[in-house]
Amino acid sequence: MFTFLEKNPFFFTLAFVVAFAVAGVVEILPNFFKSARPIEGLKPYTILETAGRQVYINEGCYNCHSQLIRPFQAEVQRYGAYSLSGEYAYDRPFLWGSRRIGPDLHRVGDVRTTAWHEKHMLDPTSVVPGSIMPAYKHLFKKDADFNTAFAEAYTQRSL
Ligand code: HEC
Repeated sequence: MFTFLEKNPFFFTLAFVVAFAVAGVVEILPNFFKSARPIEGLKPYTILETAGRQVYINEGCYNCHSQLIRPFQAEVQRYGAYSLSGEYAYDRPFLWGSRRIGPDLHRVGDVRTTAWHEKHMLDPTSVVPGSIMPAYKHLFKKDADFNTAFAEAYTQRSL
């Protein structure tokens, strides 16, 4: 059977497409029905959180950080429970990121204190020796852009 497939490119391609389609349906369809809905207890972002997301976007933090923990042992051990699609129900746009020059940040709020973050943003090497993350001193002078955050929250609601 397999030698037959290996010798016939046409049937090999056909078998491949069928196998891929079936696996796709099995993997993808359930997401549309259950996990794409907001997880229980998930609330839309507050104005402050929206302003924070705006900073994250403006500063390009997503160029070095992801916010998506994949269901692999190594990731779960390092970053915490893997991410569920329902957790992103109010994320527009998604900030998953595709590069990890720095670690994933999806659950960083569970492990670090506000004081740690303040020190780290002001001068990363003061808390993580040898860190290559840039310092964000200007964020300590500039006020949050609440006008954009309000506009953003308004748009989210209409969506
Ligand atoms: C040039 C790449 C780069 C950019 C841009 C960047 N980071 Fe980082 N970040 C890193 C690296 C590398 C680390 C790991 C070393 C460290 O903890 O400082 C890190 C660590 C962190 C940590 C600590 C994570 C942990 O689990 O200890 C936080 C929080 C963080 N970054 C937030 C941000 C935010 C917010 C921004 C945007 C304002 C940002 N980073 C922009 C590279 C970057």
